Order: sequence, then structure tokens, then C-alpha cells
Amino acid sequence: MGIKSIILAAGKGTRMHSLRPKVLHPLAGKPLVEHVYDLCKQLENNSITIVYGHGGETVRKVLDSLPVNWVEQAEQLGTGHAVQQAQSQINDSDTVLILYGDVPLLQVATVQQLLTDVSANTLALLTVELDEPKGYGRIVRDNKNQVINITEEKDASATIKQIREVNTGILAVAGASLKRWLGLLENDNTQNEYYLTDIIALAVSEGVAIKTSQPVHSSEVLGVNNKSQLSYLERVYQAQKAEMLMLQGVTLADPNRFDLRGEITKLGQDISIDVNVILEGTLEIGDGVTIGPNCVIKNSTIARGVEILANCVIENATVGADSRIGPFARLRPAAEIQSSVHIGNFVEVKKSMIGQGSKVNHLSYIGDCLIGEGVNVGAGTITCNYDGVNKSLTTIEDGAFIGSSTQLVAPVTVGKNATIAAGSTITKDTPEEQLTLSRAKQITIKGWRRPVKKG
Ligand code: UD1
Ligand code: CA
Repeated sequence: MGIKSIILAAGKGTRMHSLRPKVLHPLAGKPLVEHVYDLCKQLENNSITIVYGHGGETVRKVLDSLPVNWVEQAEQLGTGHAVQQAQSQINDSDTVLILYGDVPLLQVATVQQLLTDVSANTLALLTVELDEPKGYGRIVRDNKNQVINITEEKDASATIKQIREVNTGILAVAGASLKRWLGLLENDNTQNEYYLTDIIALAVSEGVAIKTSQPVHSSEVLGVNNKSQLSYLERVYQAQKAEMLMLQGVTLADPNRFDLRGEITKLGQDISIDVNVILEGTLEIGDGVTIGPNCVIKNSTIARGVEILANCVIENATVGADSRIGPFARLRPAAEIQSSVHIGNFVEVKKSMIGQGSKVNHLSYIGDCLIGEGVNVGAGTITCNYDGVNKSLTTIEDGAFIGSSTQLVAPVTVGKNATIAAGSTITKDTPEEQLTLSRAKQITIKGWRRPVKKG
């Protein structure tokens, strides 16, 4: 006994005009069907089945890590036929929840209502009133306002087409009854499909009550059939996330120009985010962090008091308290920036640790590097970390001063408090406390003349 969620995801999605199966198109960076999966995950004692069909192998491959039962619907013969394919998964004592893989915004509270309403002799059906019900199955009620059937648009008379209450497709039903009714479905309709919606009339004929409820927000039941609807739902989703963050105290310069494609697992106070910022994956953002315009930050931890200036790209990195990043800085995976560090414009940091209070202010590449505390890396300094085959480590100890335009050919260590003169190519370890330089002597050719154009 438990909940069996069946996610229908076998439809072709022809109107997406895409080689990619519809349910894999991303909303907020995550496949549509995964939004539905994440909803199911919030329900206790729930086992999840995904019915796949068109492009099914791709769907399975992309979502391989999800702990779900996969059921193939080789031919798409209708929603009833799709559920029939999952029939062997259903126990008599189960409550079956039918969901659509292309309806991504459904909220758990709405589903909980269906699960509260359903019983052995009650089918719980999610419906919605639409000003433009065209295309949907209509909820037909008798003169006592009891639901008697669902009539698909293509099978509907002119009178029925006027009904504005429509079927969302989402419902909860007792396993034993569902299995019985699935066996009775026929395809004698205009589309020659096995309609899941026909179980409503079968339920009524057995005296099973149909209890309808409505979603908390009507956007919850909107489906994606084309790119226009996809972008609409994306904006609905983003508006909800922006609203949620603002209600938690985040200052957003413009909620319409903010995108969250993932989740913020730790959120401090007094965070301020300028326009066109994209946050992706899993993030932690501490107290008082300010993020300038046009930044993309993915899977990173930003500690309290950090200032990220305009146009930074940060991925799989950590930034320690009170550091200042950018403008135009790029922190690549495994960039570990400690506290009170300055990373300036056109600086790229990859797989490197930068110690407290150190500064890399201009035009540098720091890769596979351990930088101690209080180090100053001059403009245009490059770690030559790659010989074409292997990556090697550069170590710069505490208090070192690296003159501008230095190349550090790894593996190499710059000792504590060492000074490297500008323009040096450092190929050997340099001693502590000393000045090291490697430069050709500067010479001047006396009496040299610029060439003149030959006549
Ligand atoms: C269905 C409902 C209709 C409802 C509408 C809501 C039926 C007969 N009709 O219509 O009452 O108003 O949804 O959007 O149920 N699918 C499969 N296999 C199939 C057919 C569909 O997995 O053979 C999946 C699709 O991928 C999709 C869902 O079922 O996720 C709905 O299919 P769709 O073709 O969009 O149904 P509609 O005809 O729009
Ligand atoms: Ca549809």
C-alpha cells in the first residue's frame, strides 16, 4: 500500500520542432519531466513510474540516475493506453496519481488535496476553469452538479464545447478500480485513441464519486506544447522564485531580469543582486553579499561580505568573506578564494587556492597554483601550468611580490616574501626574501635610424 505516481511522458512533442524529446527541454535549467519528478519526491511512501515512448532511449539515458521505474509505450495510442503499460506496477491497495511530464509547475499542495480526496469509492480529479477552454477535455456535470464524464474537444458537441471547466489530466484513483477500468477502455472515438478520461464515466457507472478540486495557482496545470509556452512558463517560474527571494529579504534590482536555475541552499541577509544575474546549480550566499550586473554564478559558495562586481563568471568556486571579485573576472572550477582577497579585471583563476588578503588585480591567468597570504600578483602574470601533456603546480608563499608580466613556469615555487622583478620568466624555485629577476639586459643602439621607403 502506498502511492504510485505515473508520469506520462511518451508524447511526441511535434510542435517543439526539435530532435530532443519534449520532456527533456529545460525549464530553469532542468528537464521538464524532472520538475514533475521533484514534485513526486516530496510525497511520502511514493514510488514513481515514468512512461516513455518517443525518443525514449534518450529520456532514459539523460535521467538514468533517477530512482524510478521505466515503462515503455512503444506506440502512442492515447493516455489510457499509456497508463495501461504501467498496469503491472499497480497493486490493488495502491493510490495511483497520474501526472504529465510536460506540466512542470504543479505544486505539492495541489497534489496533497487530491490525495486527501481520493478513497476506494472516490476518484479525485483536478480541474480548472478557463476563459478559452479550446483543445481541452470538458468536465460534463449533471443537473445535481455531479461530474458524469469528460468529453474530449474533438468528440464534443457545440453545447459541450461551451463548458469552461476543463480536465487538467491530473488525478488520483484507487489502484483496484483503475486496473478494472483500464481493462474496459475502448478506442471508438474520433482520434481512435484509448482515452484515460473514459475512466470517469466508468467510475460514475459503478457509483464511484468524482471529487474535483482546483490548483492553488492556475499556472500550475499549464502544459508545454511549443517553445512559446515553454518561455511563458519559464517566466512564471522565475517570477515566483524572484518573489520568494525578495520575501526572504533579498534586494533584486529588477525581478524581471533575474534567473535562478537551481537552488540557494544557504541564503544570508542583506544580499543585493543587480540586473541580469543568472544563478545556476547549488549555491550558498552569505550575509551582505552584493552581486553586480551581468554575472553568472554556478555551484559556488560566496561567503559574507563578498562584493562581486559587474560581468563576472564564477563556476564551482568558493569565495571567502569580504573578498572583492571583478569586474570581468572568471573563477573556474576549484578556484578557492580565501577571505579579503582581491581578484580584478580580466583575471582567470582555475584549480587554485588564493590565501587571505592576497591580490591578483589585473589581466592574469592563475591555474594549478597555491598562493599564500598577503601575496601581490602583478598585472599580466601567467602561470605556465601546462606543457601540452601534464599540468604542474605553482606555489607562491606568503608575502611574495610578483612583478608585472611574469611567467611562472610550473612546477616552481616562489619563496616567502620573495620579490620577482617585472617581466621575468621564472623556471627555477626562487629563494625567500630575495629579489629574483630573469631579463635580457636593456641596450640602446646609438645612432640607429628608422628605415625609409625605397624609392
Ligand atoms: C489530455 C486529456 C484532456 C486534457 C488535456 C490536458 C485525454 C484523452 N485527454 O488531452 O482531457 O484536457 O490532456 O492537457 O487524456 N501521452 C502519452 N502517451 C500517449 C498520449 C499522451 O504518454 O499515447 C502523454 C503526453 O506525453 C502528455 C500527456 O500524456 O504528457 C497528455 O497527452 P496529450 O496528447 O497532450 O493529451 P491531450 O490530447 O492534450
Ligand atoms: Ca496537451
